[in-house]
Amino acid sequence: MLLEPAPAKVNLYLHVTGRREDGYHLLDSLAVFGPAADALQAVPAETLSLSLEGPFGDALVAEADNLVLRAARALLPEGVMHGAALRLTKCLPVASGIGGGSADAAAALRLLNRLWATGLDEAALAALAAPLGADVPVCVASRPAVMQGIGELIRPAPTLPECGLLLVNPRVPLATPAVFRARQGGFSPPAVLPESWPDAAAMATDLARLGNDLEAAALSLCSPIGEVLAALRGQPGCLLARMSGSGATCFGLFATPAEAETAARAMPSTWWASGGGLYGARPVSLHPGP
Ligand code: C5P
Repeated sequence: MLLEPAPAKVNLYLHVTGRREDGYHLLDSLAVFGPAADALQAVPAETLSLSLEGPFGDALVAEADNLVLRAARALLPEGVMHGAALRLTKCLPVASGIGGGSADAAAALRLLNRLWATGLDEAALAALAAPLGADVPVCVASRPAVMQGIGELIRPAPTLPECGLLLVNPRVPLATPAVFRARQGGFSPPAVLPESWPDAAAMATDLARLGNDLEAAALSLCSPIGEVLAALRGQPGCLLARMSGSGATCFGLFATPAEAETAARAMPSTWWASGGGLYGARPVSLHPGP
């Protein structure tokens, strides 16, 4: 049996920098991973199958268009058949701005690349990932990275300090296309970031000057986001509170994982909350920019 974590993707800032003719938006975003994850297991089998379990397993169906199965098929060259019995433990809320489906698809690429001994490197997996969704390439490495283009251009992130993240979702699903449609206003320039931050407070100061350009639109569709942000800002040690992706999950940034864990326990039980440290906090360069 092989096991692969599928950590949540968190956008520490997200600028919409333009819009393509096909309607997709150009982004500039610092993505980090953790502190919660789905888990994907695989055992060899004659055919390809998927079962779902976990707290949010009921929110999805294991049909052929499930991103995990689409990722599995993307790994197989035309005419080649391999099987695997996949089991996805869904711990991340669905349609929640932390890339759960994208993380699952990326985990499937990594896991089946091992199980089937396909021998693809990270850049080749990221290339297969792009048609599956804008967030899937960055999830292949699941390390801090700056995402540009529609998300498929992955650039090195600044070296990050130790910090803690608290993710909170009001248990209201939010469809990404609806949030992009509700967005008003122009475009933001790409952020200028330092090579590193000495500590979480310095990172929070820089991030506070940036924003999530989808936050106002998401808030107009889902008012509980405002309550989540207010609750995060009220937590001792919270350096910054902001929405991730297209919402509705918001994050609080803390100096240490322990502070984020403590704050998670203070959140109302009707919300989903997870606090801890970052996953794989190393720089990444999959497709170095021009
Ligand atoms: O690529 P993904 O399936 O995650 O995107 C879902 C939807 O979100 C797209 O169909 C599009 O409406 C919107 N989107 C966008 N610009 C992006 C990413 C997503 O407009 N960069």
